[in-house]
Amino acid sequence: MRKPLVAGNWKMNGTRESAAELLRALVQGLEDGATAEVLVCPPFVHLADAQRLLRESDIRLGAQSLCAEDAGAFTGEISGAMLRDYDCSYVIVGHSERRSLYHEDDALVARKFMAAIRNELVPVLCVGETLEERESGTTVEVIRRQLTAVLNAAGIDAFANAVIAYEPVWAIGTGRTASPDQAQEVHREIRDILAAENVTIADSIRLLYGGSVKASNAAELFAMPDIDGGLIGGASLEAEQFLSIVRAAE
Ligand code: 13P
Repeated sequence: MRKPLVAGNWKMNGTRESAAELLRALVQGLEDGATAEVLVCPPFVHLADAQRLLRESDIRLGAQSLCAEDAGAFTGEISGAMLRDYDCSYVIVGHSERRSLYHEDDALVARKFMAAIRNELVPVLCVGETLEERESGTTVEVIRRQLTAVLNAAGIDAFANAVIAYEPVWAIGTGRTASPDQAQEVHREIRDILAAENVTIADSIRLLYGGSVKASNAAELFAMPDIDGGLIGGASLEAEQFLSIVRAAE
């Protein structure tokens, strides 16, 4: 049985005050517990406040990226060990915004994935095709390329402690969600690619869907057999929306 995971990727949003307010509302809303595992990934500068505010709660803390290196002259970067210091247990790697806006290629994503594993952080590896790639019929090819780069570098065993998020680029922040069938089809492919290496890991790894998930469409997505939760952007910034999505995963 895979425990559902609902993760909020706050991206570059919020003030210190609004972040604290959102966290307090989530803690209160989940006071009675949740069947799903709940994760929030605030911006780096809010991690210290989040660590303190989440101390008594079951909500897990994660970061949105990390450096591929462990320490040294890497101006502006944050290491896996630093994230551990703030009680992060997860970190997003390979988000499409990092790939497209900051030129993170498959090789760098693989190195970041390994940095996460090395520092005992669970990587949430994002994969997904652009609209152009979907329309030209290369979705599976793209997902396979993105996954294989990490598989070749890190090895299948590393995926025993990883999460994969399928985030079609055309669905991110556009209000255009993949249909449950479209998402399920790619999730099945991802599990098949992993199963060729190790059936147990393929069966147990959690596959999240991300891209315009809202309270109104979460339940039908989460009902699909290979969708084990969601990676939520915009809707994770409003406590009530996010809590409804968490409930939809139960
Ligand atoms: P939206 O939910 O805003 O579409 O963002 C999805 C996403 O990129 C989460 O990582």
